[in-house]
Amino acid sequence: MTTPEPALPMVVPAEGLPARVRIHEVGARDGLQNEKATVPTAVKAEFVRRLADAGLTTIEATSFVHPKWVPQLADAEQLFPLVRDLPGVHLPVLVPNDRGLDRALALGAGRIAVFASATESFAKANLNRTVDEALAMFAPVVEKARARNVHVRGYLSMCFGDPWEGAVPVPQVVRVCRALLDLGCDELSLGDTIGVATPGHVRALLAALNEQHIPTSALGVHFHDTYGQALSNTLAALQHGVTTVDASAGGLGGCPYAKSATGNLATEDLVWMLQGLGIDTGVDLGRLTATSVWMAGQLGRPSPSRTVKALGGTTQPHKE
Ligand code: HMG
Ligand code: MG
Repeated sequence: MTTPEPALPMVVPAEGLPARVRIHEVGARDGLQNEKATVPTAVKAEFVRRLADAGLTTIEATSFVHPKWVPQLADAEQLFPLVRDLPGVHLPVLVPNDRGLDRALALGAGRIAVFASATESFAKANLNRTVDEALAMFAPVVEKARARNVHVRGYLSMCFGDPWEGAVPVPQVVRVCRALLDLGCDELSLGDTIGVATPGHVRALLAALNEQHIPTSALGVHFHDTYGQALSNTLAALQHGVTTVDASAGGLGGCPYAKSATGNLATEDLVWMLQGLGIDTGVDLGRLTATSVWMAGQLGRPSPSRTVKALGGTTQPHKE
């Protein structure tokens, strides 16, 4: 006799956790930006539509960056109009500067994200600027966006470690968080770009931010899963009161300007844990997994997500 595989976890709530978590889905942006082979625009649009159909309501669609810096997202102008009218879905886009903001506004984007770095090395590699030069570049962007009622997220990369500089002191991270909020960002996303964080470090950073009067309600977390710590780090953040968690369908991802960055926390792995804890996300795990299996077929390799493997394993492509 074979034991049936569970399609959903048993629900056993735990104390001290939020009732609801907003998932900020980054698969179409962070997930795809590192893919070498160009993914057709129609496939990206279908990906975003399927993610919306699975119940995700914040789906980062693309980036209005220099096309030579991130060739995979050079089709932002073609993609965005194909998805912008999805009902009930926010579609934030990455914007590094005035030029990017104008491109995004011309297409009616209602949410943008600027992206700063806690370290000088990554600011240089990713934005060709020092940390403070990048903040100066963002200042008019945030101001203009907010004047038009456009919601602004401020990403902060390398919050927990940097491939060139190693350990990143907590006060250094707090300083740039404060600066991003002072520019007028509506929310921050704390990025573990290379996936080196561990739960105590997450707690220490969140506590240090609170000590500087930065409320947890303004903070989201963005974990990459290089060392398999993304879910434990997420749980630590939830226990601290964080309710916005970034994740990428199927665990796609990486950053072209940080070699050691691998895939993001997989949305399916996150949803499995949250469902088991009885935390509402509005996401249909079956539909989401089917989307990642479909996307794995488009990319020609299986999803690294443990949950996608468990639920959709035999239907995933087996060879690269
Ligand atoms: P630069 O070379 O210093 O650019 O790059 P510039 O300001 O000197 O301008 C040079 C030329 O680029 C000009 O054209 C500009 O008009 C043009 P020219 O006058 O020479 O003909 N240009 C643009 N064209 C189109 N769209 C634009 C744009 N901006 C300038 N927006 C720049 C500076 C910021 C542009 C560049 O460094 C860049 O695009 N970087 C983006 C890198 C990126 O997207 N990285 C991945 C996202 S971050 C990430 O993944 C981390 C995250 O997930 C969180 C985490 O995990 O930590 C968010
Ligand atoms: Mg990232």
